[in-house]
Amino acid sequence: MLEKIKETASFLKNKMTTKPETAIILGTGLGSLVNEIENKYEISYTEIPNFPVSTVEGHSGKLIFGQLGGKDIMAMQGRFHYYEGYSMKEVTFPVRVMKELGIKTLFVSNACGGMNPNFEIGDLMIITDHINFFPEHPLRGKNIYGDRFPDMSQAYDKGLINQAKEIAKEMKITVKEGIYLGTQGPTFESPAEYKMFHIWGADAVGMSTVPEVIVANHAGIRVFGCSVITDLGVEGKIVEASHEEVQIAADAAQPKMTAIMRELINRA
Ligand code: HPA
Repeated sequence: MLEKIKETASFLKNKMTTKPETAIILGTGLGSLVNEIENKYEISYTEIPNFPVSTVEGHSGKLIFGQLGGKDIMAMQGRFHYYEGYSMKEVTFPVRVMKELGIKTLFVSNACGGMNPNFEIGDLMIITDHINFFPEHPLRGKNIYGDRFPDMSQAYDKGLINQAKEIAKEMKITVKEGIYLGTQGPTFESPAEYKMFHIWGADAVGMSTVPEVIVANHAGIRVFGCSVITDLGVEGKIVEASHEEVQIAADAAQPKMTAIMRELINRA
């Protein structure tokens, strides 16, 4: 495993002309941030040794390098979901490679169903904490570096959360905060499941992010995460959910998410 990570990292280092310390996983809501990356150069996942290849609709797969707000960054366009059939090792492999490349801060976004009754479709939710409800743990097995029992008391960096809230206030963008529960999918939740997850303490539920965030924390990378609420799992407000509706709600929220992230990356 460690050899594979090192092999991939050394392949990338040979191609890289910049030295980013900031990485972005361009999940739902952040797709258009790509257009703002300057002096771009790209490496397709298919070219990268040991990289899984992304399959899901609306997620093409490549690493994009360049500058954002004057900072060297690397961005993943297309992430690997557990529901696609990848193992947790595969889902989180790119984050382990990021550590090897010297990444210090990771920004992630996603789409999710809101269970907090104060949430509306199109809201942005800064992730303050998570519940890992995936059936396989990404750190299961031999511990190749870091702590065997990693701390998760501040999986989402408080400093970055506070900065993001300040930025949102300055920009007069309303943001919610909450706990994200990561589950395997690919089904959206039944009303009983939404209710259960809310009773457990989650404000939103989605099918990504938690594995990558756990591995980033284990690797000593600080994390900021932001969700777009694309449908509601609130009793009385639940309607049929579809991938298309999720995309439409996410596209509408995209400018707000992009504005906050861009500025946060700039200041962080
Ligand atoms: N549940 C799980 N994943 C999701 C949802 C949801 O309601 N909406 C977008 N991704």
